[in-house]
Amino acid sequence: MTLLDDIADVGRDARRGGWSRHLGDDGEATLREWFAEQAQRRGLQVETDANLNLWAWWGSPGPDAVVTGSHLDSVPGGGAYDGPLGVVSALAAVDALRERGVRPSRPLAVVVFAEEEGGRFGVPCLGSRLLTGALDPDRARGLRDPDGITLVEALGGHAARLGPDPERLARIGRFVELHVEQGRVLAPRGEALAVGSTIVAHGRWRLSFTGRADHAGTTRLDDRRDPMLAAAAAVLAARAAMVRHGDEARATVGRLHATPDGTNVVASRVDLWLDARGPLPQALVDDVVAAAREAADAEGVTLEVRSESSSGAVTLDPALADTLAAVTGAGRLATAAGHDAGVLAAQVPTGMLHVRNPTGVSHAPDEHAEDADAEAGVTALADVLEELCR
Ligand code: GLV
Ligand code: MN
Ligand code: MN
Repeated sequence: MTLLDDIADVGRDARRGGWSRHLGDDGEATLREWFAEQAQRRGLQVETDANLNLWAWWGSPGPDAVVTGSHLDSVPGGGAYDGPLGVVSALAAVDALRERGVRPSRPLAVVVFAEEEGGRFGVPCLGSRLLTGALDPDRARGLRDPDGITLVEALGGHAARLGPDPERLARIGRFVELHVEQGRVLAPRGEALAVGSTIVAHGRWRLSFTGRADHAGTTRLDDRRDPMLAAAAAVLAARAAMVRHGDEARATVGRLHATPDGTNVVASRVDLWLDARGPLPQALVDDVVAAAREAADAEGVTLEVRSESSSGAVTLDPALADTLAAVTGAGRLATAAGHDAGVLAAQVPTGMLHVRNPTGVSHAPDEHAEDADAEAGVTALADVLEELCR
């Protein structure tokens, strides 16, 4: 908790509340420096890979390494724990192993993945997707932030280096990500920790409605081609689809941008982002798009739909999950949040540990973990690392 306190003022967002820490901004840069300093203090060897992920090695980088860590970036106006709890717990677990006199018999690394939330460039798990080859580096280079700045412009010369890194990946024997619980299952169970079992399929789609800008006062009903009407239909359709597709379905519009964004102007264009999750996210999207098209046609507005990211359902490595459960005594937890662990799992045996979140709130300032639970998380992670490094 001292480590979390250390960074509590970094990237605070006075306008939105909470924290906004995005790739390349001052807060995120400060967190990178902070992490490097913390790692060096512990005698770990720090490097930044081609995809802007940070690695801190205990022992020389080598094969069959045990890797733990998470991310330090946040959603816009996010909480203090999603990402940072996994990173500080990893550092604290290294301290715990040292205190126990453990000398790992294989390389151990703490990793900080870049831009996990996709808060600036739109694609989540940017660093881990690039590392594993799940994202084409050319596509990544062309991604734009909300101000129209491309990733190439933001990164300068480094952008040329982006891309899959099979050698680095081949060094990872096992990856374990500790994460604050997102949702509220553990509090009613009376359990502080859980072992991750699955990650639900999820993705992001951008719906762009184009109409005609005009005067809010003088434009008669029949003359309007207002993209906001079709966008509103899409928002309502997202909720209707979620109701129709059952308990595990989620469809959310949390971000919408009108152009030119004037109170007394009929918008010329509205972009909105649909986050869809569940056993069949595409079915949710299809429902929303059908309703949006109908509303767009009725208003004389065009609609363009683009998939910005997509992640299939993930079952975390069953053998590793058994080990985590045996070592920690914790039960299992499925999650509907995305993680770098979900990306890594396609190529490396990967596990997760979740730490109880008593509010259940996440991606918002009310996200929380009690000190005692965070400490239990560190002890559990240290136990797991000790076992895996044996
Ligand atoms: C990331 O936390 C996500 O679930 O979108
Ligand atoms: Mn998150
Ligand atoms: Mn996270």
